Amino acid sequence: EKAGFDHFMLKEIHEQPKAYRDTMGSRISINGSRVTLNELSMTPEEIRNISRVHIVACGTAYHAGMVGKYVIEKLARIPVETDVASEYRYRSPIITKDTLVIVVSQSGETADTLAALREAKRCGARVMAITNVVGSSVAREADDIITTWAGPEIAVASTKAYTSQLIAFYLFGLHLAQTLGTQSITEIEETIAALKELPTQVEAILEQAEAIKGVAEEMAKHDNLFFIGRGLDYAVALEGSLKLKEISYIHSEAYAAGELKHGTLALIEDGVPVIALATQHELLEKTVSNIKEVKARGANVLGIAVEGEMELQKSVDSTFVIPKTLDVLSPALAVVPLQLLSYYASLARGNDVDKPRNLAKSVTVE
Ligand code: M6R
Repeated sequence: EKAGFDHFMLKEIHEQPKAYRDTMGSRISINGSRVTLNELSMTPEEIRNISRVHIVACGTAYHAGMVGKYVIEKLARIPVETDVASEYRYRSPIITKDTLVIVVSQSGETADTLAALREAKRCGARVMAITNVVGSSVAREADDIITTWAGPEIAVASTKAYTSQLIAFYLFGLHLAQTLGTQSITEIEETIAALKELPTQVEAILEQAEAIKGVAEEMAKHDNLFFIGRGLDYAVALEGSLKLKEISYIHSEAYAAGELKHGTLALIEDGVPVIALATQHELLEKTVSNIKEVKARGANVLGIAVEGEMELQKSVDSTFVIPKTLDVLSPALAVVPLQLLSYYASLARGNDVDKPRNLAKSVTVE
């Protein structure tokens, strides 16, 4: 059942190219010019009436939602707020009839997410679910569903479900942009073309798994480390940090790179590992200067860089290179080495990778 892999997590990491392809599937026109989300019942007029979007989820699904916010704001220019589901209901969110609430849940059974969905509906919002389980509670109760076709995810640590959620957000962002006219036809075609490249690019990353293994074994000797990044890289940093804590039990923090000097820099000392994500072209220079700040305090920096960015490679101790894509799509590539890093760090520490302590696959209590 693990198809020759030692753990479900590793199998599921390797299933990502297929999960991307299946989730895109027939939702992209054959000539690559349009996205068609036939499953949505929202009319163009209803889409034009959306004045704000709330994205609500827990854990890894919440981190996918952070990317979703960026994608929808960039492609469709609609303001988006993100909340963790256990907080959403209790802050009296402003939910109106023209609010679209998007709940994200792999299992579709997470109690807090379901409660948020119900609250949003009670307030008259339209609710769209991004879920991996057809017929789950979330899928049954939402007005619209985008199903992620990642297939069953067994390992407690979510991998292919997260990346499929990213694909769902890209498709939905493009769908909104097509309807609202916020992106030109050329821009839409370019994004679709880059989206279609992702599965092969993930395959190329997976071929370099051994390189990550060595770095992970070294990191597993430490008790504290940091992930830094800006913009979308910050969202990915949060996901990388959660994954590492969840299965390796190594303490880590994810920080918006520019925020370090407002306190956290005090924790950087000789030899502390820092994983610096620097995939966002426009933010590269700023991220490099943040890398220099931690280097000057003795940090040992692993950079996650895009092919060809030699500038970054000069300022770090080691680099993992990901293939070139559009900045907005880079989370779907940059997270993969971080998943592998957590996996191998957990393995090096002799942990139960697929069933980490204290955690359940599906959290059905609030
Ligand atoms: O099934 P869900 O997507 O609603 O689950 C949400 C979280 O419990 C889940 O993503 C959790 O954070 C993962 N174990 C992280 O790997």
